[in-house]
Amino acid sequence: MKTDIEPVLEKHPAASRDQLIPLLQAVQQEEGYLSKEAVIRIGRRLGLSASKVYGVATFYNQFRFQPLGKYHITVCRGTACHVKGSLSLLEAVQNELKIEPGQTTRDRLFSLETLACLGACGLSPVMCVNGEFFARMTPNKARKLIHDLRREAASQ
Ligand code: FES
Repeated sequence: MKTDIEPVLEKHPAASRDQLIPLLQAVQQEEGYLSKEAVIRIGRRLGLSASKVYGVATFYNQFRFQPLGKYHITVCRGTACHVKGSLSLLEAVQNELKIEPGQTTRDRLFSLETLACLGACGLSPVMCVNGEFFARMTPNKARKLIHDLRREAASQ
């Protein structure tokens, strides 16, 4: 999903360096991630080098540098989910997709992230695909879900 970020930049006409985080958030909201081009243009807007902008953005794990996949998977790593085995769930997803949190598969089918709590602790461990919750997940259920999603994508 590539969009032009000019309208977003124009909404911050008086952007100063202390506007860097809000501007990064706004651009990510618009594009789904922070592209190289976006980082450069934000830097120009604020009089900062691209490496400075990138350095700040990588400090916060809310920012992504790759576009989201068709299926965006979130694995909860909050306390309740951790106690119920979310680490092995996450490892199963990572092994199946061969990516780390914050990354997108080469075929752009899957992206992965972790969150501290998805607000559904009673259903732990929880994972989410494009906003749909999957409760009491296990590594096997997660692998099956990913296989099903691959099949679904192949049939479209
Ligand atoms: S800790 Fe996972 S939903 Fe709250």
